[in-house]
Amino acid sequence: MRSLLLRDLAQVATPAAAPPARGAELAHVEVVEDAYILCRGESIAAVGRMRDLGALDGEIEELDCSGLCAVPGLVDCHTHPAWGGDRVAEFSLRARGASYEELHAAGGGILSTVAATRALGDDGLHARVARHAGWMLAHGTTTWEGKSGYGLDRDTELRSLRAIRAAGGHATWLGAHAVPPEHPDADAYVEYLIADVLAAAAELATAADVFVERGAFDADQARRYLEACRDAGLALRLHGDQFTERGAIPLAIELGARSVDHLEATTADGIRALAASDVVGVLLPASALFLDRPMPPARALADGGAALALATDFNPGSAFTTSLPLVASLACTQLHLGPEEALTAMTLNAAHVLGLHDRGRIVAGLRADVTLLDAPDWRYLAYHLGGDVVRAVIRDGSLAYRR
Ligand code: NIG
Ligand code: FE
Repeated sequence: MRSLLLRDLAQVATPAAAPPARGAELAHVEVVEDAYILCRGESIAAVGRMRDLGALDGEIEELDCSGLCAVPGLVDCHTHPAWGGDRVAEFSLRARGASYEELHAAGGGILSTVAATRALGDDGLHARVARHAGWMLAHGTTTWEGKSGYGLDRDTELRSLRAIRAAGGHATWLGAHAVPPEHPDADAYVEYLIADVLAAAAELATAADVFVERGAFDADQARRYLEACRDAGLALRLHGDQFTERGAIPLAIELGARSVDHLEATTADGIRALAASDVVGVLLPASALFLDRPMPPARALADGGAALALATDFNPGSAFTTSLPLVASLACTQLHLGPEEALTAMTLNAAHVLGLHDRGRIVAGLRADVTLLDAPDWRYLAYHLGGDVVRAVIRDGSLAYRR
């Protein structure tokens, strides 16, 4: 069996809690100094101090990691990577004061990306998603979720889910992202999704997602869509409380959803309810920053005992970034989470949101997914704002990226 020894690491840092870490457990990170990680095949075989590394049998490839720190391969549990065109013109308008919601209401925003995505051929769509996946890897992401939601018709939604899978992503069907112009209203569109798209989407995706918001879907429409998706075997996610509270948290709890994502507009009752539930709050501070919106109440959620994850929300309109290290910096500077909490939220807990329990920590027996940081202390992951902190990435026990 192929073996890879990562030797002379300055530090190995890994979440120590069982998933999902909640409340104070988010800060439980174990650090081993002057360490090694031994990978055998696609798994981690051992982790420890260099001085305790005994003689090893067989042929072993070694990687000198002096001056580097290891964290678990980062897990981006919320991205929108399947789209055509871009939104740079809209970005320029927003920079000078136009609002995201006004642009959306005027047929720009998400719907302009839908038109560009429908116009993209299959090869073009595959190439786009693969390019975005390459960006994620270069930022230390070894596992990512990708949503459809810029097709909004049967053919383009299914092509999007296939392209996400082909690029190595975990596919989420976001059929209920916006109402496309060919349907009279949101109710009619939800009926179409359930009757004409769901069965095929459920073959390709592992989860379903809905945008609960003014101008998108209300809680009753979301319930109809999500119940049908759950009956088809899909895990449930919700975009909720991005601009306004529209009942996404109570609905997520009622349906046993995996997560509610965004939460920039969540107030005291929502914080209390989410913190007392098993639903993970997925925070997307890059999106709040990109749209110049309030940050989600992360500290109150963590202190209240919530299970939290962090993700990029990578998409062309509200969060054009694939960098989880940038998100870690925002978590510390804007959300008032510690680097330990941020690390747990973008590894262990993010994997839990995706239903993946074979990754997210650096311990023997889990998948050998490791992100190597060019830093003397692992907390540079958050500290080095916008820095080139990722030096190399090990995925499935092999070197997948190196700078
Ligand atoms: O998560 N909020 C809805 N959907 C995306 C943005 C989509 C877009 O602007 O293209 C989000 O922010
Ligand atoms: Fe999103």
